[in-house]
Amino acid sequence: MSVPKEIRERVERLREEIRRYDYHYYVLNQPLISDAEYDKLFRELLELERKYPELVTPDSPTQRVGAPPAEEFAPVEHAIPMLSLQNCFNDEELEEWDERVRRLLGGEPVEYVCEPKLDGLSVELVYVDGVFTVGSTRGDGRVGEDVTRNLRTIKQVPLRLFPLDGRVPRLLEARGEVYMEKEAFRRLNAERERAGEPLFANPRNAAAGSLRQLDPNVTASRPLKIFFYALGRAEGIDIRTQEELLTTFPKLGLPVNPLWKKCRTLAEVKEFYRELLARRHELPYEADGMVVKVNDFAQREVLGEVSRAPRWAVAYKFPAEEATTRVLDIIVQVGRTGALTPVALLEPVEVSGATVSRATLHNEDEIRRKDVRIGDWVIVRRAGEVIPEVVKSIPERRTGQEREFKMPERCPACGGPVVRPPGEVAYRCENLSCPARIKESIRHFASRRAMDIEGLGEKLVDKLVETGLVRKLSDIYRLRKEDLVNLERMGEKSAQNLLDQIERSKNAGLARLIFALGIRYVGEHLAEVLAEHFPSLEALSQADYDELLQIPEVGPRIAQSIVDFFKNEENRVLIQELKELGVRTEAERPREGPLSGKTFVFTGALSAFTREEARRLVEALGGRVASGVSRKVDYVVVGADPGEKLRRAQELRITILTEEEFRRLVGR
Ligand code: IVH
Repeated sequence: MSVPKEIRERVERLREEIRRYDYHYYVLNQPLISDAEYDKLFRELLELERKYPELVTPDSPTQRVGAPPAEEFAPVEHAIPMLSLQNCFNDEELEEWDERVRRLLGGEPVEYVCEPKLDGLSVELVYVDGVFTVGSTRGDGRVGEDVTRNLRTIKQVPLRLFPLDGRVPRLLEARGEVYMEKEAFRRLNAERERAGEPLFANPRNAAAGSLRQLDPNVTASRPLKIFFYALGRAEGIDIRTQEELLTTFPKLGLPVNPLWKKCRTLAEVKEFYRELLARRHELPYEADGMVVKVNDFAQREVLGEVSRAPRWAVAYKFPAEEATTRVLDIIVQVGRTGALTPVALLEPVEVSGATVSRATLHNEDEIRRKDVRIGDWVIVRRAGEVIPEVVKSIPERRTGQEREFKMPERCPACGGPVVRPPGEVAYRCENLSCPARIKESIRHFASRRAMDIEGLGEKLVDKLVETGLVRKLSDIYRLRKEDLVNLERMGEKSAQNLLDQIERSKNAGLARLIFALGIRYVGEHLAEVLAEHFPSLEALSQADYDELLQIPEVGPRIAQSIVDFFKNEENRVLIQELKELGVRTEAERPREGPLSGKTFVFTGALSAFTREEARRLVEALGGRVASGVSRKVDYVVVGADPGEKLRRAQELRITILTEEEFRRLVGR
């Protein structure tokens, strides 16, 4: 059956419109229509593509996510090597660079284009006939990693270029920087902290870690952005200067950083540098310097390169964000997992625009390594402009009054013993009922992304723990109105509101509950994966190490952590209690039916149902639907244009059903 012409045209039209709206929204930051109108168009396109899967193309706006994890990244060779930049640190070095440029060009006039140097991850995106085909990291400059599927999830990345004068280039290799804005980075880290996951040291690491994810769905959940600033190969398009590049790219749909300047003299270059330096902290992204580039590509040819860096460009770095101050004291904080973190209390000092009065010392080994003592003069740095840290001490300035720090043998919060598990850097308070740990774990349990108990905020948690009303997580569900009303400042009405919220949280669902328990390394995403895999919290608690390892996203470290958590007697009791107190510990219970105990996975587009309809059909007959293929899956249903899941199903010899076979199975 061929697709009616009107449908084809409508689909094309919708895609064009959506691409245009995306461009205005993501690239120009100037939305043309309301979110609701946009959603309506997007849904119409989804619906048409569902009905006519043969119309789905990889560059359709609907195709950004949904790919399953890869095993590893394939290598990609850059047709033209991706170079690095030589640095300069002061005006003098800049002048030397400029003199060499002018000398090598035989005194011709030179123009420079200056841009902020973004601190992210450089990538190359290949567009063939306007369609995004391969994207890779810089790697060693010659060979990078294939991160195409991850780059596709970045909304600013056009999956197809706009035509210029009615044509798209035959080939365009666009290079740029994937980065994370500072604010987004802060939010991501706050979330990770709540999940007990390791924090990213700075936005650069967060961007790199997010792009280099084997599961593109994880990348999609991270707020990555991109600016393009360079060109690899180009055919069927004429770009001769950096200025042309920066004005042409946006017309093709490729976002560029609007903050750039063409300079005719070195004085102008220096002036722009000072301007950027002064505005550095207002910029939403992190910049570690300014790149100065020769504007004219023909002149670049003449200048060439030395040792993997072009002679035609230089990075004029910003000065390091450091300051000197004194350590007044070193205190110890206790986190949710019981880890003890030494923190330096500092004489307040200004570091690049912010006052710093505390800095993390990470752990005892670090204190030794940096030789930091109480009373020392130290250098502090705002790493990634966010978490200040002590870089080193200045032993030359010691007076002899300084005191060495010793990790306390007892927990500062509960007085319980402190141990350092073999092979770990952190000391831990092992007392599961330590008030500091309890407070942190209750805050996490109640947080928005966990059980979402509104009203159970920081102050109230402190009070509940201090008055002994809450000693462990299950106590939250034992709170009575009179308990709450007796607390100062808690009125009748807010007590009732809180109780309602607590009641409501009982049905938060299995994924949230797993996340809320605060098992080490089990963040939000992994909790969802686990909730899909296991019918109940009990089932998860009984899973053994090998069984957990079977789950694609679970590695040895995570599997061990989950096993350890449920081996702990107190945690076992906790789970029993939560259940008895009415917290739903089961996944939406599969009904009994002919498909009881059977797990399905769908891949590719179905023509007769949406995924949601298919899921409901399976569940109505007692079956389950999972998102990833593993040995636990019984059937993989294959629609049009199946993805990686099909290959994995074949590998694992799982029964593969066509849509027709599936329909017969469910009696449709
Ligand atoms: S131009 C050969 N422009 O800096 C020069 N690079 O140290 C090609 N970078 O790997 C790059 N912002 O990741 C250029 N506006 C900018 C940049 C920039 C950041 C990075 C890029 C490159 C590194 C070189």
